[in-house]
Amino acid sequence: MPHSVRYPEGHVLLRNLARDMPVISHGDGIYLIDASGKRYIDASSGALVVSVGHGNKRVADAMQAQLAKVGYVNGTQFTSEVTETLADRLIAIADRELPQARFARAAFLSSGSEVVEAAVKFVRQLWMERGQPKRTKMIARVPSYHGNTLYALSMSGRPHYKKLYGPMLSEVVTLSSPYPYRSPVADYAKDGADHFVRELEEVIAREGGDTIAAFIAEPVIGSSAGAAVPPPGYFKRVREVCERHGILLIADEVLCGAGRCGAFYASAVTDFVPDVLVLGKGIGGGYAPLSALLVRQDHLEEMRAGSGYFQHAQTYLQAPFMTAAGVAVLDEFERLDLVGNAARTGELFQRRLREALLPLPHVGSIQGVGLLAGVELVQDKATKAPFPRKQKVIEHLIAHLFARGLIVWPNMGQADGTNGDLFMLGPPLVITPAQVEELVGSLVSSLKEFVP
Ligand SMILES: Cc1ncc(COP(=O)(O)O)c(C=O)c1O
Repeated sequence: MPHSVRYPEGHVLLRNLARDMPVISHGDGIYLIDASGKRYIDASSGALVVSVGHGNKRVADAMQAQLAKVGYVNGTQFTSEVTETLADRLIAIADRELPQARFARAAFLSSGSEVVEAAVKFVRQLWMERGQPKRTKMIARVPSYHGNTLYALSMSGRPHYKKLYGPMLSEVVTLSSPYPYRSPVADYAKDGADHFVRELEEVIAREGGDTIAAFIAEPVIGSSAGAAVPPPGYFKRVREVCERHGILLIADEVLCGAGRCGAFYASAVTDFVPDVLVLGKGIGGGYAPLSALLVRQDHLEEMRAGSGYFQHAQTYLQAPFMTAAGVAVLDEFERLDLVGNAARTGELFQRRLREALLPLPHVGSIQGVGLLAGVELVQDKATKAPFPRKQKVIEHLIAHLFARGLIVWPNMGQADGTNGDLFMLGPPLVITPAQVEELVGSLVSSLKEFVP
C-alpha cells in the first residue's frame, strides 16, 4: 500500500480529485498517524466527531463484545439491551440538564442528516395527528447547516452548497442567525436577542403562525457560523414567541451536543428548551455511525392515540452495533469526566486561543464555548472586509496547516453568502491542558508563516 493516494490512482471515489490523500495508519487520543509515520494533531476531531479520542480500546472491546452477540436486528421488530441502555442514559442526562424539555424517548439512526429528517417527519406527523395539515412550513436560520440529504440541505443556510440542486430542494422560511462578529446591532450581548427575536416575529406575522410546523436551530452554530453563541436571552424569547403560535422547536445538536460545549446538551448552555432534540457525531465518537432523536412522552402519546406509532424508520433504526458504540462512548464520558473536561479545559482553550491568535494580522474574530471554537480570517481587521472568494484563502490555509500536521475544519461564505474564510477547532474531549498549549503553539507558528 502506498503512503498516499491521488486521483486517478485506486478505485475509491476520492472526495478531492486534485490532491494527495494520505493513507491513515492509526490514531491515539488527539493524534492521527499516517502510513508514512507523520503525526497530526486532530484539532477538529475529524468533522467534530471523535469525542473520546482515537484508538480507544475500551470502546473497541465493548463493540466487539456486542458484535459477537448480535450486530443487527430490524428496529421495527426488536429492541436490544444496548439500545435500551443508551436511551435510558440519554434521557437521564436530559432529565438532569434539561428537565423542562421533558424528553422521555430516544430513537437511533446512523447520521445527522437522517436524524434531522426524522425530526421534521416527527413534527409533521404530530400536526397531522392534531388535525392541522396546514402546518407544513419549517423556519430555519441563515447561516446554518442541518445536513446533506435534500430536505436537511433545504433547511441549511448555505447558499453555495445548494446551488447545484436548485429546484430539487424544498422551500423553507428563513431568518438571520445571530453571528456576533457580523451582527447588525452594535451591542450584541445587550440588544441581540431583541433584534433577532423581532425578525422572528415579523417572519411569523408574514407567513401566518398556523402554517408553521417548527423552528429548527443549532444552539451553538457549527461551521456555517464558526461556533457562534446566541446573545443572552435569545432562546428563551424564541420559545415564548413560538409557544404563542404553537410552533414546535427542534434543537440540532448534531455538532454542538454530546459534551462539546461544556454540558452534555448544548441547549443547556444556551437556555434553549426544545420540543425535539437531535444528536449525532460525538455520541458515536467515530466508532460507529450513530445519531439520536429525543422526543417527549406526551407527543408520542398523541401519535399512539392517533395513527398508532411514529411512522418513520430506516434500515439501521436502533441497530445494536451502533448503540453499543454509544453506550461505550458514554461509559468513557463518565470514566474520564469528559463533559467536565470540556468545561474546564475548554475555558483554557478559549482563553489561550484569544490571547495567542487575536493579535495576528488577519484574525478577525474568535468565538465559541467549551471545546468548540471558530476563527474568522479577514483581509482588513479595521473594516472586517473578507478576502475575495477567488483568492481561496481558507483552502490554502488548510493545506498549509495539514502539511504541518494540524487538522482544522474549513468553511467559507459566512461573511455575505459568498466571501468569508473561517475554520473550526474542536479537539477530542480527552484533550489535556498541555495538549491545548501544543495545539495553540502549533497553530500560531503555522499562521505566522502563512501568507494569504
Ligand atoms: C448541525 C449539523 N446538523 C446535521 C449535520 C449532518 O450530519 P451528517 O453529516 O452526519 O449527516 C451536521 C454535519 O456536519 C451538522 O453539523
